[in-house]
Amino acid sequence: MTQSIKITGGVPLKGEVRVSGAKNAATKELVACLLTSEKVTLMNVPDIGDVSVTIDMLRGLGVSIEREGDRVTVDASTLTSPEVTEAFSRKNRIPILLFGPLLSRFGTAIIPALGGCKIGARPVDFHLTALQQMGTDIVCEDGVYRASIEGGRLHGAVIELAYPSVGATENVMLAAVLAKGTTMIRNAAIEPEIKDLAMLLQSMGAIIQLDVNQTWIIEGVESLHGATHRVIPDRIEAASFAVASVLTKGDVLIRGAVQDHMISFLNALRRIGGDFEMTSEGIRVFRVGEIKPSTVETDVYPGFATDWQQPFLILLTQADGVSIVHETVYESRFGYTDALNAMGANITIHTNCLGAKACRFSYRNHPHSAVVVGPTPLKAAKIEIPDLRAGFSYLVAALIAKGTSTITGVDLINRGYERIVEKLKGLGAEIEEVQ
Ligand code: EPU
Repeated sequence: MTQSIKITGGVPLKGEVRVSGAKNAATKELVACLLTSEKVTLMNVPDIGDVSVTIDMLRGLGVSIEREGDRVTVDASTLTSPEVTEAFSRKNRIPILLFGPLLSRFGTAIIPALGGCKIGARPVDFHLTALQQMGTDIVCEDGVYRASIEGGRLHGAVIELAYPSVGATENVMLAAVLAKGTTMIRNAAIEPEIKDLAMLLQSMGAIIQLDVNQTWIIEGVESLHGATHRVIPDRIEAASFAVASVLTKGDVLIRGAVQDHMISFLNALRRIGGDFEMTSEGIRVFRVGEIKPSTVETDVYPGFATDWQQPFLILLTQADGVSIVHETVYESRFGYTDALNAMGANITIHTNCLGAKACRFSYRNHPHSAVVVGPTPLKAAKIEIPDLRAGFSYLVAALIAKGTSTITGVDLINRGYERIVEKLKGLGAEIEEVQ
């Protein structure tokens, strides 16, 4: 097991790297496979910690899963248990998505509390309220949710989300495909990973469509069947490599990166002095001139994703002037900046909304805006990773820091990035794993 990663900064990244399948699509799609007793095959499934945890969790429910390279075949005809054991509590955000499949298959579901990165309170009230609207009776005792269906089958409902939550949208979708009647999800999330989930469900026999104004409409069917589906490339990983290329004055072809999924990111990159070229194989990213300061506001899709914020902020530490990052998705996602300041960055965190618009965290004392003053040379450090996306941003910071950095807590990066050390090494980075 890797104990730490050592990186010596100063090498421009050059060459090609292939983006893996998207973590936030693959994990949900594994859950969707439980909606049928027929086999479902997923291709381009990344070999990462969150996928392994999800596979183990589904196996714990009796599901048979075979993995061959990036192809995973799920046979949920052997699903025997409606109870996700405590062993999977607080490991990631996936267990709560099992409500729909387990309720549809057994009429009951027992699911432990959630985990995932510590980047805010991350409540699940939208999920629970929506499932209740669809006829689920849910109680929470000692950190365990016990759910059952009033009347034998979930029923369709008009769900109006208070915020376009990714997880809540997926949860309702997974419950609605086999529910009686039609479900409408208004103010829903429409991230590419959710569209990918919808496409898998459609391939499995669901009737599901994206309507105008961020609305999903799902007409429940009696049963779903087997399918084969290819998971979309990971736009968060793609953006992370793009940042690393621009930051190190490199030139990297990011194979498999999809322009359509990254429009906001690519605009932001161009504004600060990065550039790119679309090729038939992916996106080639490089630097033109010095990095310019900018203002970035995270948002739900199609806005600038909150998971792009951390690597992008490292770029801003090298911009000549004052930049602002307004985080509007999570109320507390700047904890990782202390370590960057210790490396020489000049980042201050503020509770005011410092973006173009006031967000829902306005006047609530959440540390959700960052002012970055640059350019600041970074020096190597020993850093402990606090969460997945911050983890990649530390790797990126170390790539330009003077000296050799040691980064611990690597398991958190392995949760979401496949063969990251090998990929960076392939681009010429001076990086090694310490066992
Ligand atoms: N929220 C509520 N109540 C709810 C659900 C969400 O208040 O019931 C709030 C959250 O607290 C947060 C906001 O709504 O402030 C957005 O949360 P959302 O539900 O959209 O996030 P999620 O489904 O828990 C997924 C990704 C995150 C990504 C977000 C936003 C997965 C497993 N996780 O989380 O990815 O940042 O959507 O795009 O899909 C990551 O990959 O590192 C990661 C954190």
